Amino acid sequence: MPLERTSELVAAAARRGGAVAALNVITLEHVEAALAGAEAAGQAVVLQISENAVAYRGGRPGPLAAAAAQGAREAAVPVGLHLDHVTDGSLLRQAPACGFSSVMFDAAHLPYEENVAATRDAATWAHGQGLWLEAELGEVGGKDGSGPLDAHAPGARTDPEEAARYVAATGVDALAVAIGSSHAMTSRDARLDHDLLARLRARLDVPLVLHGSSGVPDDELARALAGGIAKVNIGTALNVAMTGAVRERLSGDARVVDPRRYLGDGRSAMTATVTRLLTSLADRNGRAPAAR
Ligand code: G3H
Ligand code: ZN
Repeated sequence: MPLERTSELVAAAARRGGAVAALNVITLEHVEAALAGAEAAGQAVVLQISENAVAYRGGRPGPLAAAAAQGAREAAVPVGLHLDHVTDGSLLRQAPACGFSSVMFDAAHLPYEENVAATRDAATWAHGQGLWLEAELGEVGGKDGSGPLDAHAPGARTDPEEAARYVAATGVDALAVAIGSSHAMTSRDARLDHDLLARLRARLDVPLVLHGSSGVPDDELARALAGGIAKVNIGTALNVAMTGAVRERLSGDARVVDPRRYLGDGRSAMTATVTRLLTSLADRNGRAPAAR
């Protein structure tokens, strides 16, 4: 089916009182596993490529984006394509040509006024291109291996009143909120601030996005969906699955040289993880699959 717009998938999920999963893809195996897992769960999905993944791919977003877009067109479920955690304006400007319908522009590390100015410019440009723009306020820690922010540190949580001013001043279409999750967690024991989420949901009229969702256990994710999170970003969980399977294959067979042996194991492990996560989200939504 044709590529779906991220905005449509998020809106459809929000109407059902649920969330669409947005999965970070780094290799072709991630793309294949994300799509196979989404099909097995009967759920729509967003494939997202981060600025860090683009850097790993030599600074060129095109080849992986093209593979993801073609995989999406051949998938049996609706799939969107999103460019994630962009800080570089030149990468932002490549988004339309690469087939992305949405971008997360990340200025969360900047002081508030600078974040507003940079994000407002990015949103204005993105809207002129027909792109849906997500931004972040109150930094979700753990980016670039920096380790989780202290949950009580200033700026670590999103303040509802500041967020309302920020959305009005920037014109963003969705907001990533810091409510206790952290990037790159390999354990699933994050606890979210559901009271803060309720206050954010009551104060804001744009979809809310949860980053760092690999570290959030199923019951906490379910409460986050019920509390108004409409996009759930997941990356590290796929890498944990892939790396574990590859490590097991290589440590068990010192003679293996064909990458299809270990990458195939990694892809299967990621597919199982995606299927489980998306099935859990669908169950929590309490709704039928999001197929059109
Ligand atoms: O934007 C991407 C996500 O926030 C992924 O976070 O790798 O901790 O699941 P994660
Ligand atoms: Zn993130």
